[in-house]
Amino acid sequence: MCGIVGAVGLEDCSETLLDSLKRLEYRGYDSSGVVTQDGDSFQMRRAVGKLKNLSQLMHESPLNGRSGLGHTRWATHGGVSERNAHPHIAGDKVVIVHNGIIENHSVLRAELEAEGHKFASETDSEVLAHLFLAAFNEGLSPRDAGVRVLSMIEGTFALAAMHIDHPDMMIVARNASPLAIGIGDGSGFVGSDAVALAHLTRNVIYLKDNDLAIVRPDGVEVFDIEGTPVNREVVIVAASQGMVDKGGYRHFMEKEIHEQPDAIAHTLAAMTDSQGLLATPIPRDELAAIDGIVMLAAGTSHYAAMVARYWIENLARVPVTCEIASEYRYRNPVTSAYSCAVAISQSGESLDTLMAMRHAGEAGLRTVGLVNVAGSTIAREADLVMPTRAGPEIGVASTKAFTAQLTALICFAAALAEAKGEITPERRDEIHRQIQKLPSLVGKSLGLFDEIRPVAHELTSARSALYLGRDVLFPVAMEGALKLKELSYIHAEGFASGEMKHGPIALIEEGLPVVALLAADEVMGKAASNLQEASARGARIILVTEERAAGTVDFADSVIKVPDVDPLLAPLLLSVPMQILAYLTAYEKGTDVDQPRNLAKSVTVE
Ligand code: AGP
Repeated sequence: MCGIVGAVGLEDCSETLLDSLKRLEYRGYDSSGVVTQDGDSFQMRRAVGKLKNLSQLMHESPLNGRSGLGHTRWATHGGVSERNAHPHIAGDKVVIVHNGIIENHSVLRAELEAEGHKFASETDSEVLAHLFLAAFNEGLSPRDAGVRVLSMIEGTFALAAMHIDHPDMMIVARNASPLAIGIGDGSGFVGSDAVALAHLTRNVIYLKDNDLAIVRPDGVEVFDIEGTPVNREVVIVAASQGMVDKGGYRHFMEKEIHEQPDAIAHTLAAMTDSQGLLATPIPRDELAAIDGIVMLAAGTSHYAAMVARYWIENLARVPVTCEIASEYRYRNPVTSAYSCAVAISQSGESLDTLMAMRHAGEAGLRTVGLVNVAGSTIAREADLVMPTRAGPEIGVASTKAFTAQLTALICFAAALAEAKGEITPERRDEIHRQIQKLPSLVGKSLGLFDEIRPVAHELTSARSALYLGRDVLFPVAMEGALKLKELSYIHAEGFASGEMKHGPIALIEEGLPVVALLAADEVMGKAASNLQEASARGARIILVTEERAAGTVDFADSVIKVPDVDPLLAPLLLSVPMQILAYLTAYEKGTDVDQPRNLAKSVTVE
């Protein structure tokens, strides 16, 4: 939700902090700030809006110093303003940056104000600065001050703090919000993820929940919440994690739409064994023992789960329930019918999904993390990991991660079905052969930009749009609607086609755009009839289908065709024109495609 960075022992660290923040801007971009220690004082610059505003401020008024902190904010407590921007400072002696929510901030703030502390912002985070100030004023060491503060706060946090009397030293800690420590050559770093540090070092320590660390130029000491030293492994992160740039495209999202053939191919490779057969990282005997699956996810990942339910129930005859993670988290679910929980998350850090996975694990379910970020919290906490290999996805709207998730999930469904004896190894291998065609089929579908551009042009003036899909295409309709609304700010809703006549058809009026998904599958005729009902009432039908099914709906106002594809894989292929349509509509509307308003790439608060 927010991005935090820190550096100690680096000549002129302010530019480095700014570079790291640029790699974290996808996490939130309401405001940003940098503070450095320059001799016996802190110098701070903060700005509302995109990072470029802070960058300009820092170039107009440079910061000096070897150590400092930086932050890019997605507002939770306190409006978007300069005074609510991080870093926060207390008593001119302590500065902090924070990602997360301090649940008991009001009580702590009242106690601190009663002791004479003066607050400058409306944020929950500023409480941390004053708690550290109070601890240091009592003469506590950095470690003991950290232990004291962690013992007083409730909620989620990834934090970094500095005290003016301890130059070149950061106190860092995390609980539920991600945090990585970078070990440099005579310098130390901290960042919300390894991407922020990849241009500085590949030697990274991922803190565990309630870990506390003291970072100095000559090394890192890690402690548990009581202050007892603990060992944490130093991992070498992949060099590719640092290679995030637009590669000549207008936006990260455009680039990531075009990266889908590779994302699918690389993910498929991770689900293929050395004999070239389809195989998941889950041992076959464990697959055979699965007798019910709870899918936990949010947003686009939830729609991937909904598609997978059709596949798994169809092929493996295993019951599946798809749960919105934030709802499941606080339910008292009956889990006796399920043995496995699959948490699907591109970032591996969505707190709703992480907490739901923990909830399922505590209920005795075996947990599987289907994530795109190695080393993410969900990846590290799950019993088993099924990775997608889409590479870093920077655009806030998920594209290649979604089709990579579907690739992993269809592989999982086929492997599960074979392990349970519901399909033969030959049928599994046939499905595998069909999946291997996807990179090429998706590559051909990427040629639709010009064909879709006029359709997007018309859509830019719409006040609302409906997306319809039947059976396994219903979740794709939901995903298409999410893409349009989160990118172009046009209200859009996805419905099961057959559900329209039970109420939503009242929304149909002359000229209302209806994006209709259709595949040459068993429900094609029914889906076409549902579209006829909408068309007869004046809807403008934008048909998204495969070549061989296009003639089924001769009353469509626009037709977008992808190459013919095995019905099993239609949901994946048909999602590509959905992405292109949303992208081009948003681009023409002039919204911020990579960083839409009010959003963040990884939602690490509940
Ligand atoms: C997708 O376009 C959205 N940006 C959002 O719904 C996202 O899918 C959701 O927040 C879940 O993120 P995750 O996959 O990283 O958990």
